[in-house]
Amino acid sequence: MTAVTATTADTFRPALHYAARNTWLNDPNGLIFHEGVYHLYYQNNPLGNVWGNMSWGHASSADLLTWTEHPVAIACDDLEDIFSGSIVFDRHNSSGFGRESSAPLVAVYTSAYKSASVHHGIQAQSLAYSLDGGYTWTKHTGNPVLNRGSSDFRDPKVFRYESDAGSYWVMVAVEAQDFEVVLYKSHDLKSWELLSSFGPANATGGVWECPDLFPLPVDGDPENLKWVLTVNLNPGGPNGGSAGQYFVGDFDGVTFTSAATVTEGLQDPDRLGDYQWLDWGRDYYAAVSFSDVPEGRRLMIAWMNNWQYANNIPTSPWRSPMSLVREVSLHTVDGSLRLVQQVAQELASLPAGHPPFTADVVEISEGTHLLDGAAGSVQRIEATLTAGTAEEFGLIVRGNGTKGTRIGIRPAEGSIVVDRRESGQTHFHESFASIDAAPIEPAGNSYELTIYVDQCSVEVFAQGGHVTMSELIFPASTSTDVSLYTIGGTATLNNLCITQYA
Ligand code: FRU
Repeated sequence: MTAVTATTADTFRPALHYAARNTWLNDPNGLIFHEGVYHLYYQNNPLGNVWGNMSWGHASSADLLTWTEHPVAIACDDLEDIFSGSIVFDRHNSSGFGRESSAPLVAVYTSAYKSASVHHGIQAQSLAYSLDGGYTWTKHTGNPVLNRGSSDFRDPKVFRYESDAGSYWVMVAVEAQDFEVVLYKSHDLKSWELLSSFGPANATGGVWECPDLFPLPVDGDPENLKWVLTVNLNPGGPNGGSAGQYFVGDFDGVTFTSAATVTEGLQDPDRLGDYQWLDWGRDYYAAVSFSDVPEGRRLMIAWMNNWQYANNIPTSPWRSPMSLVREVSLHTVDGSLRLVQQVAQELASLPAGHPPFTADVVEISEGTHLLDGAAGSVQRIEATLTAGTAEEFGLIVRGNGTKGTRIGIRPAEGSIVVDRRESGQTHFHESFASIDAAPIEPAGNSYELTIYVDQCSVEVFAQGGHVTMSELIFPASTSTDVSLYTIGGTATLNNLCITQYA
């Protein structure tokens, strides 16, 4: 394992996204809002900037924008790596880890046992607790608390289930190789009883990892709750490699059921477009939600990377950013229930350093048209475009001449594409240069795009967050142009507002 040298130049560091100071990170873990602070733990290699020595790193934020990095929260040792998991606030001290004056935070994580352990080769669920609000952690002496003798049982997400019939802790975790989410119940977080399992279903082109299960009101109606099961899988995403899918259904305290489930023809690549994806881009993985956010808000964050090339991306001394924090809601779209995603209001209302760049309604002719005065590396672009005769039209960001990252609509195909083949550095891995597509429905004949550009990424929220695409890019620092373009005809720009953040 190479230790990181502090003198290495800091390249591509995002301004709006979290990245560790000088180490590697992957999955978000233990997300919780507690005593006025958002806590973001994450899979971390404290000794380097490639995957290894898996421990829980830790950062906290009061506003979801400015993050403070803390010392490693739960460290690996000779016996176990600390794989992904979650944290609950055990307010009634059901676990007994609390002291008179302080109820504990309890982390439920996967022990990935090493060769020196008697459990060698096993993945099982373990506990650690904190009595100081999440800054220091003590491992439970009775670990593991849930061992199925499996080598691929991981990523527990625990929440409190409350109903008229009683309340208890529920864990969702995966049997990764079996494409199965397993659900368990506990009263004390220490002894667990199997409730049910879900899967295989829908996308099964890779191992299932990092599940989550939460209720959301349908179309904002608190009397009409549905449950959303999210399951990340790797590989097998709609544009290759890692991605997250979701199921909308019901949870009765024992079993999750979903009508939107296909169990025949699994692993058929032609069916990927039939499934529901959290994000269609290449770089939105291990998405999971925060616990205990006030006012019923469901906030999610993902690792912005893809296992296909994760260890090779050309950042240093850190490697991998998190996504922006998103608020998700459930809406009826064409008769079926869909997750709609927006950047959390705390970020979306961020004051800019300069007045925004705006443009009047204009017909866009064939070719690439530089927007003079719109250049930037950290910006939010809000645009509405209407199809004309062009086969493809949209924006080029982080551009330099005609090169850059193309974000375009192909109305005849009914798709939105992100093309990063000429986005900057792509040669570090053969699968990185890509043109990725997602299905999109016009509103009338128009397309509304909100695009966050932040040094090494673009996150696209189309049609009010009905379709999202998140992608890493590695442009030269001098590639900052924003252009409009069309291919094969015309389109109309109805409005444009570009907010510069740096
Ligand atoms: C997902 C994952 C998890 C595991 C962790 C290990 O990216 O493979 O299933 O807990 O990463 O770092």
